[in-house]
Amino acid sequence: MAGNSTHILGISAYYHDSAACLVRDGVIVAAAQEERFTRKKHDAGFPRNAINYCLREGGITTAELNYVAFYEKPFVKFDRILHSYLAYAPRGIHSFLKAIPLWIKDKIWMKAELQKELNFEGKIIFPEHHESHAASAFFPSPFQEAAFLSVDGVGEWTTTASGVGKNNTVEIAEELHFPHALGLLYSAFTYYTGFTVNSGEYKVMGLAPYGEPKYVDLILREMIDLKEDGSFKLNMKYFNYGVGLTMTNDRFDKLFGGPARKPESRLTRRDMDVAHSLQVVTEEIMCRMARHVQRQTGMKKLCMAGGVALNCVANGRILREGIFEDIWIQPAAGDAGGALGAALLVWHQYLGKPRQTDGLHDTQQVSHLGPRYHKEEIRRFLQSGNIVFEELSDEELTPKVADMMAEEKVVGWFQGRMEFGPRALGARSIVGDARSRKMQEVMNLKIKFRESFRPFAPCVLREHVDEWFGMRPNEDSPYMLLVAPVLEKHRFPLSKPAVR
Ligand SMILES: [Fe+2]
Repeated sequence: MAGNSTHILGISAYYHDSAACLVRDGVIVAAAQEERFTRKKHDAGFPRNAINYCLREGGITTAELNYVAFYEKPFVKFDRILHSYLAYAPRGIHSFLKAIPLWIKDKIWMKAELQKELNFEGKIIFPEHHESHAASAFFPSPFQEAAFLSVDGVGEWTTTASGVGKNNTVEIAEELHFPHALGLLYSAFTYYTGFTVNSGEYKVMGLAPYGEPKYVDLILREMIDLKEDGSFKLNMKYFNYGVGLTMTNDRFDKLFGGPARKPESRLTRRDMDVAHSLQVVTEEIMCRMARHVQRQTGMKKLCMAGGVALNCVANGRILREGIFEDIWIQPAAGDAGGALGAALLVWHQYLGKPRQTDGLHDTQQVSHLGPRYHKEEIRRFLQSGNIVFEELSDEELTPKVADMMAEEKVVGWFQGRMEFGPRALGARSIVGDARSRKMQEVMNLKIKFRESFRPFAPCVLREHVDEWFGMRPNEDSPYMLLVAPVLEKHRFPLSKPAVR
């Protein structure tokens, strides 16, 4: 299988969302997140299972790997952490003491660690964190040239990077640096509204439509010095992440009239208004950044990655504002996708291999890049667990599922290869009838045991998309990364979110 091919293994690890990706001669063979094997959400450990899976899928062993690419530069990151603790000393001593032993043990010895873990003696390449994000956004995109925008919490020092991808290179032109990060601002409010930082951000986005933009002026006046070009400085007197183990502090609480919501406690009007206001501010910053990048680069297309690029509501607004003709967003926009970006960066930029696109199709393969299970394996699994099952032909299956959905039943849909990235894209999805008024609540509360307000994505045939949504005829949105408004005539009034 290996022959004369060049195999590059990309790895993200040790922060959150560890993942691995195998690229063969520039083609993505496999990509998966470690959490899908360990069942530990956002597993940050060494992605042993994901790596083994990728090698298996590629039919190779570690000995046949030509390069390993790690998604960031561990030394630069260590330098940033050390400097920010020193800048805030002695306030940060507690978190310093907590973080440093971890760094010394696991992180700064990354090269030796990777060599040992993989039993690999070849070349290991460490692109910068945002180079990996930018590469993950541009290289699989359908565009031959495009601007890119990478926005997240923090990589090494950089929190936002923009520039141009052209043919087989990505080049960062502008950056914003720690502690001024849109991702961290969003995370601070995620913490404040009682959700888990680094994973609950999309719940804040889901809660936003239920609130009013009551605090927009307050946030812009007190917390952010936002410039016309989308660059900004956060007023660090309200945040604690530079030094502490929490995101926000007493001054933050005072500004919004009370302490952070306790996780799992009742959601209040204030939480919804705070979420809505934050979302408005985020969209404003993202749009300003996008406009600035467009002006600077003159490009007609935009590629995006970084955790903030999972904010599909903001992405939808950038698209609707017509700042760029078209946008492509890496489905694994968070740090997991760094594994994919790092591997492609080695192929195109480090090895100088050409890249050709047709301007229409991406090379992400619907992000169905994970493990698949054959019928026989599934049958054996069901039998070993004494699970009642019935086998249907494809001809029988579709009408049966359609009937069940029409009866307001909820269906677990499992087929083909698992998605790479946080969104279920028809391979491991829960599906229900969107016409049912109770479906959102039934699914959330009974099936997934989660907050009732959390949104679902609609699935509609391409030729009907503009009959239902504020989208262009035949416009594609295969990755659940662009939110478009439902046309006025189809809207129901918003029900109040039930409280857990
Ligand atoms: Fe990142």
